[in-house]
Amino acid sequence: TKQYNIACLPGDGIGPEIVAEAVKVLELVAEQTGVTFNFSYGRIGGIAIDEDGTPLPDETLRIAKAADAVLLGAVGGPKWDQNPGHLRPETGLLGIRKGLGLFANLRPATMTDSLLEASTLKPEVVAGVDLIVVRELTGGIYFGQKKRFTDENGRDTAVDELIYNEDEIERIIRVSFEIARKRSKKLCSVDKANVLESSRLWRKVAERVAADYPDVELTHQLVDSCAMQLVRAPKQFDVIVTENMFGDILSDQAAMLTGSIGMLASASLAEGSFGLFEPVHGSAPDIAGKGIANPLATILSAAMLLRLSLGLDDAADKVEKSVWAVLDAGHRTGDIGADKSKALGTIAMGELVREELKKQFAAK
Ligand code: NAD
Ligand code: IPM
Ligand code: MN
Repeated sequence: TKQYNIACLPGDGIGPEIVAEAVKVLELVAEQTGVTFNFSYGRIGGIAIDEDGTPLPDETLRIAKAADAVLLGAVGGPKWDQNPGHLRPETGLLGIRKGLGLFANLRPATMTDSLLEASTLKPEVVAGVDLIVVRELTGGIYFGQKKRFTDENGRDTAVDELIYNEDEIERIIRVSFEIARKRSKKLCSVDKANVLESSRLWRKVAERVAADYPDVELTHQLVDSCAMQLVRAPKQFDVIVTENMFGDILSDQAAMLTGSIGMLASASLAEGSFGLFEPVHGSAPDIAGKGIANPLATILSAAMLLRLSLGLDDAADKVEKSVWAVLDAGHRTGDIGADKSKALGTIAMGELVREELKKQFAAK
């Protein structure tokens, strides 16, 4: 039978709770399809700071590199928020992205009709939203030089450098064109070319690459205007490609089009099929340990793992269908609009998805 190695990095806060549900879904997929998943576990983020003295232990990077794909929960929390940069949980996440070469971050936002009421926007604005933010993940202001110094007037001063080279831009633009080619053949590149030199280079490279994709229509939009258009008329977008920090911000915004940040999955891909899969949301310290976190973003991330890293497309389709079916049947966690008395917990929601998944496999 086919064997796959999956590295699980639950992390902090609600991370362990939601990863557990996604792992149970993957175990069911294995049982139903006859493939074997070998799960290994590693520490990252705050828990690794506490146990290993660093947010990204060498052992964790080793486990991740030895796997076919990585499933991650979330990192961070108030306990570590006052730590210096090198001892912050988020530094571990950035380190693993860089260390594994995960330059392409895919963040799809799809509105399913049964969640129309969960969005804070008008139903007619968000009905039918189906877009994907492609975020450059290993460059830009996240990875430029950081400096803290005292200026000539004795003031505490800080610098974050935003740097891109043309190769980094070209490879993410190419990934986006490939995705657009399989969707509506429309690609919107988002930048701040009226102000930033890095954006002017970004635009030039995008135009150059566009010559190889005559079947795809490339447009450019400034990031401030894009943020406005995303809430005004989100259906105009299909594939959005943008640099690291703009993509971070726009993808959280896109999440709210679909009802909740607890729904948004992501894939972070390297060259080839290797990838790390995680929900877009964070460790949600305010609800950690309460058993009420929505596990669907992580379960949908596991579906992306099945499809993009393992090539198990049919199983991935079935997991996604199960999630939509459970929502269609009216089941809700608190973040997607259940009133308090009816809200399902993390484990109950995971169970419902697995019951539905069993039905999907039984129906062939
Ligand atoms: P967050 O996404 O953790 O939480 C924002 C709000 O959304 C909170 O009210 C939270 O309860 C809610 N929420 C998030 N996920 C949910 C889920 N699955 N179900 C129900 N509700 C959910 O963002 P934040 O509060 O800004 O950040 C908290 C910590 O998480 C910080 O330390 C931050 O650095 C970290 N963070 C980590 C990641 C990651 O690991 N990829 C991403 C974002 C933030
Ligand atoms: C995300 C998060 C991370 C980011 C943080 C936790 C480093 O917000 O995955 O979107 O900014 O990339
Ligand atoms: Mn973010």
